[in-house]
Amino acid sequence: MKETIYDFDTVVPRGHTDCVKYDLRKKTFGKEDVIPMWVADMDFKTPDFITNAVVGRAMHPIYGYSVMSKAYSDSIVNWLKTRHSWDIRKDWISFTPGVVPGVNFAIQAFTQKGDGIIIQTPVYFPFADSIKQNGRKLIENQLLYRNGKYTIDFDDLDKKAKQAKMILLSSPHNPVGRCWSREELKTLGDICARNHVIIISDEIHNDLILPGYSHIPTATLSDEIANITVTCIAPSKTFNIAGLATSSIIIQNTEIREKFKKFSEQIHISRGNLFGYVASVAAYQYGAQWVNQLMQYIKGNFDYLSSFLKSELRQLSAVEMEATYLAWIDFSGMGLFDKEIMQKLIFEAELGLSPGSIFGNGGQGFQRMNLAAPRKTVEMACQNLKKVFG
Ligand SMILES: Cc1ncc(COP(=O)(O)O)c(C=O)c1O
Repeated sequence: MKETIYDFDTVVPRGHTDCVKYDLRKKTFGKEDVIPMWVADMDFKTPDFITNAVVGRAMHPIYGYSVMSKAYSDSIVNWLKTRHSWDIRKDWISFTPGVVPGVNFAIQAFTQKGDGIIIQTPVYFPFADSIKQNGRKLIENQLLYRNGKYTIDFDDLDKKAKQAKMILLSSPHNPVGRCWSREELKTLGDICARNHVIIISDEIHNDLILPGYSHIPTATLSDEIANITVTCIAPSKTFNIAGLATSSIIIQNTEIREKFKKFSEQIHISRGNLFGYVASVAAYQYGAQWVNQLMQYIKGNFDYLSSFLKSELRQLSAVEMEATYLAWIDFSGMGLFDKEIMQKLIFEAELGLSPGSIFGNGGQGFQRMNLAAPRKTVEMACQNLKKVFG
């Protein structure tokens, strides 16, 4: 079959579409005029096969209550099998209106107030918020950062697992860009299994893998680990459809699954979103080539940034990005406080990045830059960095 060539170069104006990334710049940065490279959605247009499916459904003029279609669960089963070599059963899937809501529901359904929940900082900040806002105890297993690479501190995890009921795992990891290896995940999973710690494996970035790396679903590591794993997935990051608030939770263990299904029925979130379902089916049915090309493009963006920093801005460096489209840039060589760096980034370089400190301990001195944008945008951002920090 002839390969469609997708366009990632065109700049699509997004201002005044009620989108967080552009329309909340003033509120977030105190200034409208920054290149927004913060919120984790993409500046690429959603592929036509998704838009056409949504528009096609919209032509039927009744948008009443809907249920999860057979096509929705079939397309997930098939995608996970072909892209991730993971065999799941349809009835393991539950709808959630977003991964963060799903993580919150899991916390509420499977733990009690005061229970310990582990996160691996620096990590996607709503994890910490979800634990605290639900009255659970936050336990940090900070990642190790040595020779420019992040790894898991397993000795520390082993100790902390004894006081915990659950771990929120970001796999792949936002913001440090690790695509955890089979060995790392197996070690983590075995520690959790030994200590009866439920793993909430947030795999929202599972398709955003750079060439040369492979994503291993946590639940495929062993039967024991599958038995304690609750996996969150979504087409939202991969296909730029986060606004459709559609994601899934996959649970193999019958007892845990039934508990979750009961919980989601009690709070009436089990039915789903009509357009989200349609978009998700199209994404998983037709999206393989698009994702392959997307990740080649993201790699090109990362290589551009990384070599620019090496040649023009030697005090800054980008941590090797194995997955996601979020570059994690080390500013500690500048010898400035985070506040000063932010001021310079916003008011001199006119860049809206995510400060590392929001991701918790270990994030200080870093900035996260969203590279899911046309190359032109990345080039402009690099030039702006050079003007101010060069
Ligand atoms: C690790 C991780 N989980 C969840 C989300 C957001 O999920 P949702 O928008 O489906 O709630 C993000 C978005 O950046 C993320 O990076």
